Amino acid sequence: MPADFEKQSYWHERFSSETCFEWLASSESFMSIIEPYLSRHSLTCQGSPRILHLGSGTSDLHNCFRLRGYLDVTNADYEPLAIERGRQLEQEAFGDVRMKYMVADATQLSCNLSHDQKFDIVVDKSTTDAVSCGGTTALSGMASSVRQCLADNGIWISLSYSSARFDIEQLPFDVEVIARIPTLKLKENDPVIYNYCYLLRPK
Ligand SMILES: C[S@@+](CC[C@H](N)C(=O)[O-])C[C@H]1O[C@@H](n2cnc3c(N)ncnc32)[C@H](O)[C@@H]1O
Repeated sequence: MPADFEKQSYWHERFSSETCFEWLASSESFMSIIEPYLSRHSLTCQGSPRILHLGSGTSDLHNCFRLRGYLDVTNADYEPLAIERGRQLEQEAFGDVRMKYMVADATQLSCNLSHDQKFDIVVDKSTTDAVSCGGTTALSGMASSVRQCLADNGIWISLSYSSARFDIEQLPFDVEVIARIPTLKLKENDPVIYNYCYLLRPK
């Protein structure tokens, strides 16, 4: 990725004309990986999970949550145009806006939340990739921020193109790869390249 991917100005310019785009994988295919964890949460805890969708961009992942009845979804991005696009996509799909939207920097989330207000599930699709263009410190900042917002028994599910995305020091999470999504080959003989879906649990 070019270094500009960590800069808000890059995304501002891009979202001035882009209204919907999916990075790495379709929302439906990412959702098929997330869904068993949502169901498990619904079985073990009372009520709908509180979901934080970080770096929502112009993806329709939030609509996949709503389609399945998950409405306690907060969509966050540091670029206000992304937040506007997210609202538009929900309005177009459902005729109203019921999810939450928040302009916020994923590396500096100020989550002074009480225990029962913390998120049960944080998801991001390629947001760590963009943040990582700012270096390891930026990704560590995001990891600390997510940890502060996440309930102790919560989980973070993250999709990245990198097989070593969370190889950073003092990560406050245990990490495992729960799925690999093959990318589309341009030619038949091209090697198979994967995107990696990580499950992170607080240590
Ligand atoms: C690669 S795009 C992914 C967008 C979307 N998740 C998708 O899958 O199509 C990265 C997104 O993260 C957002 N982003 C980058 N750095 C961020 C940060 N520090 N805080 C919040 N959002 C950030 C960008 O504005 C952009 O929407």
